[in-house]
Amino acid sequence: MVDLRELIQKVLQAKNKLELQNLKTQFLGKNSQINQEFKKLGSLAEDERKTRAASLNNEKQKITEAINSRFKELEKSEINQKLQKDKVDVTLPARERPNGKIHPVSQVIDEISSIFSEIGFSVAEGPDVETEYNNFTALNTPEDHPARDMHDTFYLDGNKKILLRTHTSPVQIRAMLSGKPPFKIIVPGRTYRCDSDQTHAPMFHQLEGLHIDKDITMGHLKGCLDYFVKEFFEVKKLQMRFRPSHFPFTEPSAEVDIGYRLENGRIIVGEGDKWLEILGCGMVHPNVLKNAKVDPKKFQGFAFGMGIDRLAMLKYGINDLRSFFEADYRWLNYFGFDPLDVPTNYRGLSR
Ligand code: PHE
Repeated sequence: MVDLRELIQKVLQAKNKLELQNLKTQFLGKNSQINQEFKKLGSLAEDERKTRAASLNNEKQKITEAINSRFKELEKSEINQKLQKDKVDVTLPARERPNGKIHPVSQVIDEISSIFSEIGFSVAEGPDVETEYNNFTALNTPEDHPARDMHDTFYLDGNKKILLRTHTSPVQIRAMLSGKPPFKIIVPGRTYRCDSDQTHAPMFHQLEGLHIDKDITMGHLKGCLDYFVKEFFEVKKLQMRFRPSHFPFTEPSAEVDIGYRLENGRIIVGEGDKWLEILGCGMVHPNVLKNAKVDPKKFQGFAFGMGIDRLAMLKYGINDLRSFFEADYRWLNYFGFDPLDVPTNYRGLSR
């Protein structure tokens, strides 16, 4: 026989939901006493069976009711406990805005990365201290090549084997040597040349682009740059011209100008009667591919390199390149960006 009062007593004293759950299994589950009693019904005479079944059902219902009511009680006290713990002190002051600002160069690198990632480029990096081999020789710029003089290199050793990279192009070599084609990367980073005036700093920033695959053409290069410049300057119309040029590591090579006009001394990018050079580019020279262990008979593609600081100056109306690197807090406060406002193509790139 089931001692109903005792069972119900136990249920009502259950301290938490887990204990209650265990009691439920014990009192109503497959192996519970009441279940055993139900099984015995079959062997009883019909009259007896009916009354016995009714009383068993009654007991079962009472237990169930007790369990349900205890469950509700426990739930309520749990919520109350939580509310007690989660008290919010509404008298606390609001959190202050962070004090720091994002430097325009960092901001522009984020913007550029976001724009190129939309069309499948990933970001690669390389060291500032490079070998002479990666910076020049592997890029088809042999020892006696005049292009070496144009770069005003900072050498770090007497043998001129180690240097501060003069452009981000050596990362082309590093990237290709450390993977298999196709390659589709951009490389933002610091670069160094012994040069300093209003538009040149000894340390500046470049962005390299490299896209190598089976049938990449100059047409792809053009489309890619047109897309980038329009997105970056947030303009719908853009005049762009490719001027034939020379770089040892590309053939053919071109320099790219974009159209602009002046309005009250401000540069308006997109259309106009003036041209501004923004980058160098071309089809990667077969010798460069060979040096980077890529078969030029199977693969080809384009590369480009642009000055990031220049782009930042143009977009945000900053006149002197040197102010970028003076670490003047007032300047940074004025030209800097909110650290919580990360640029994306969806939310907008600039403020
Ligand atoms: N590295 C070149 C420079 O610094 C730019 C460039 C990169 C040109 C890639 C062509 C291809 O001037």
